[in-house]
Amino acid sequence: SELDADPLAYDAGEHEHFMAKEIHEQPEVVERALRGRLDVRFSTAHLGGLNLDPREARAIRRVKIIGCGSAYYSGQLGAQLIEELARIPADAEPASEFRYRNPVVEADTLYVAVSQSGETYDTLAAVQELRRKGGRVLGLVNVVGSAIARECDGGIYLHAGPEVSVTSTKTFTATGVAFALLALYLGRTRDLSPSDGARIVRGLKAMPMQIAEILRQEDRIAELARGLAGHQGAFFIGRVRGFPIAREGAQKLKEVSYLHAEAYPASELKHGPLALISPDLPTVAIVPDDELRDKNLTTLGEINARKGRVIAIAHSELSADAILVPKNERELDPILMSIPLQLLAYHAALALGHDIDKPRNLAKSVTVE
Ligand code: G6P
Repeated sequence: SELDADPLAYDAGEHEHFMAKEIHEQPEVVERALRGRLDVRFSTAHLGGLNLDPREARAIRRVKIIGCGSAYYSGQLGAQLIEELARIPADAEPASEFRYRNPVVEADTLYVAVSQSGETYDTLAAVQELRRKGGRVLGLVNVVGSAIARECDGGIYLHAGPEVSVTSTKTFTATGVAFALLALYLGRTRDLSPSDGARIVRGLKAMPMQIAEILRQEDRIAELARGLAGHQGAFFIGRVRGFPIAREGAQKLKEVSYLHAEAYPASELKHGPLALISPDLPTVAIVPDDELRDKNLTTLGEINARKGRVIAIAHSELSADAILVPKNERELDPILMSIPLQLLAYHAALALGHDIDKPRNLAKSVTVE
């Protein structure tokens, strides 16, 4: 695309930081990730670079996703989407761990490597190990022609455009969309019904407008972020679909605000971390209007009873401070719910005066061991 052509022509423009610019680009980023890939007639996705025909897609018994950092968390989100829509067992693992544990490579497993840069050494080494053992590997990569993209059997380019800020924002969202497309395609070669496929197609199309709606709430999110910035740290909790988003939200806060942030499945809070809940430790909770809403509300009640502050990312008003997100399809809601978390991290870091685009100790891509 024109954005890939000349990265030097790229600047933060009206925004104070690339992170803010990249957050605000997301409606167009999602549009680009979807362009030409939705098949309305057959309620499926067209993914030209997959090199995986329907017969091969049907033979897949398992999906294993690898990546590092935010790419790994997006892989957890992707695994959830693939299991739900295609009913294929799927999970994600840090590429840095995978490559060192002499993994069992199966012929009927589809391996998926996720990387913004396409140059992360741990991910590249894992892909090479997989290929050496005869594994079929797809790449979900942003940078066209990068080392990981070249090493894979096929894949989906994210078309998010250059991401300059060290912390990933628009790429995480574009990866979520790419996984939704992959899950839709795999699902429609199996038991995902045409009407459920159509529901996902409609949901994906609605996403850019809904992201714009979330971005319009920036002032309120910034106010909540300034409150967060006054604490030593925060918990992030979510259940099932919400858990990968909680992990990514905690990662964002750590990376740019340097606050201690930890993510837990909301269901695990009572098995240990609840001991830390007090007025000093706020919790950011992912609370979509789905079949687990009541369970999540019970958890919020437990936090309340210990006088813990809660910021909820929700679809409807709660007793806690809530950031309301427009409702999409339940499978796609998590992608939208990560956007307020990006703004929370950004504004917390801004309040603390940090070097947002180049956080201490971090590199955009780690191309060495
Ligand atoms: C570095 C960055 C992370 C990023 C990870 C993976 O560690 O600090 O923010 O998520 O690399 O990068 P990749 O380019 O492979 O997505």
